[in-house]
Amino acid sequence: MQPLHLLEKKVLKTLEKIGEVDIEGLSRASNLTLDQVRRAVEWLQAKGLVKVNTREKTTFALGSKGLEALKEGLPERRLLRFLKEGLRTLNQLKNRFSDEQEFSAALGRAKRRGWVKIVDDCVELVYEPSRLPEEEVLERLAQANTLDEEELSKDTILYSGVRELLNRPDYFSRRAVKTTQITLTELGRATSEKVSEEEEIDTLTPEIIISGIWRQKRIRAIDVEAPAPPIYAGRKHPVQLFIDEVREIFISMGFEEIEGPLIQPCFWNFDALFTPQDHPAREIQDTFYIKGEASNYADAESIKRVAATHRNGWKTGSKGWGYEWREEEARRLVLRTHTTSITVRYLADYRPKEARVFTVGRVFRNEKVTFKNLVEFHQIEGIAVGPRLTLRDLMGLLSTFYKRLGLERVKFWPTYFPYTEPSMQSVVYYDRAGKWIELCGMGIFRPEVTLPFGVKNPVLAWGGGLERLVMMRHNIDDVRELYANKLSWLRGVPICP
Ligand code: PHE
Repeated sequence: MQPLHLLEKKVLKTLEKIGEVDIEGLSRASNLTLDQVRRAVEWLQAKGLVKVNTREKTTFALGSKGLEALKEGLPERRLLRFLKEGLRTLNQLKNRFSDEQEFSAALGRAKRRGWVKIVDDCVELVYEPSRLPEEEVLERLAQANTLDEEELSKDTILYSGVRELLNRPDYFSRRAVKTTQITLTELGRATSEKVSEEEEIDTLTPEIIISGIWRQKRIRAIDVEAPAPPIYAGRKHPVQLFIDEVREIFISMGFEEIEGPLIQPCFWNFDALFTPQDHPAREIQDTFYIKGEASNYADAESIKRVAATHRNGWKTGSKGWGYEWREEEARRLVLRTHTTSITVRYLADYRPKEARVFTVGRVFRNEKVTFKNLVEFHQIEGIAVGPRLTLRDLMGLLSTFYKRLGLERVKFWPTYFPYTEPSMQSVVYYDRAGKWIELCGMGIFRPEVTLPFGVKNPVLAWGGGLERLVMMRHNIDDVRELYANKLSWLRGVPICP
């Protein structure tokens, strides 16, 4: 049996007792408010326990004359009363009526029915009828407020009273109203028989818990599958939720989060990463430059070493790029094009022998916005530093990360970056699109990157776009949809997909 609310039980039990009834009748018989009855009936109907039939019925209500007659009696009844009080003449009697017409109508009716006869100008009582159908109808109306014509017409005598009163102005008003009749279905009857009237605890309160009453009484079962109205509470944006998840994963893998500014001198975005000053990535069609230049962006020794490394390799064992490095170029400001500017800066600041850090943040690229490119997007970046770290560790690390995100099929392909050797690209298989998707660049930082900052141990580094992962997670084909702020999508995105 499905769990029933207390209101439902009461309504079921009432219906079992009284049979077909309308909402008002049900409310009276069950001692529940109309609102409670309506709610209970709706639930019971959804469970197939009651049937609700709507039909139209004609009802009567008392008019002003009808109300008066109810208080004072019908004019013909009043006439008989006056006769019994001893009044005789037509004049005497007429004076007792406020309205002459009413008097003559009453007299005419009494005469026609043989209750009185007129002798000269006197009226004599012949017979006093007992309760009239008209009077009965008035009484019933007074009690019930409205009467159902269909019901009344079943009783021909009573209905003759109705017809009689309908002919008199202002006694009755007649109205067509829709009524709903509620009955138990077969299932409802069977259920009701099983429902115990034993009182149940409907709402658990501190008093019930403290007093221990809950031990003696049953607690109402709750239908946890009952439909409920959707609630659109404030919530985090799906991209932010995903960022939180990424953080959670790296932190659980022993990484610490670092942060850095969105605006960087070229020195940290390019030069420290052994990216030559004429590299195409530095062109204005790829990178957003900011007015002004950086000062105090690094210590003089580090700048000297980076300059020497670009020129001839300095003490790194490399030949360098073989050009004259210009500091003006390194001072220029850019909106960071990758978060590798943050991890390399960390290396320079801390010169760690061992470290595990990551960062998630926005980067900017001067590209055309398309279904797969935004000008402003997020990268997930990290480094691991340690004495015996190898490329295998890097692959293991990234595989673990992807697995934690639910991506099982990962491959690594060789590629090129100016700052890593060897360099790799990770790709994952995306079922929905049926293809391998590039996720992240990675490699071991070259000595040209690490030695100028005094870092001797191998540094595993990786960085890649975040939005692609969010798109895969939520089956989105166009990256612009992530930031279109479509409420229908934002509301519907599951928090735990
Ligand atoms: N910075 C590279 C990019 O933006 C990714 C990368 C990071 C590659 C670290 C190697 C090492 O694509």
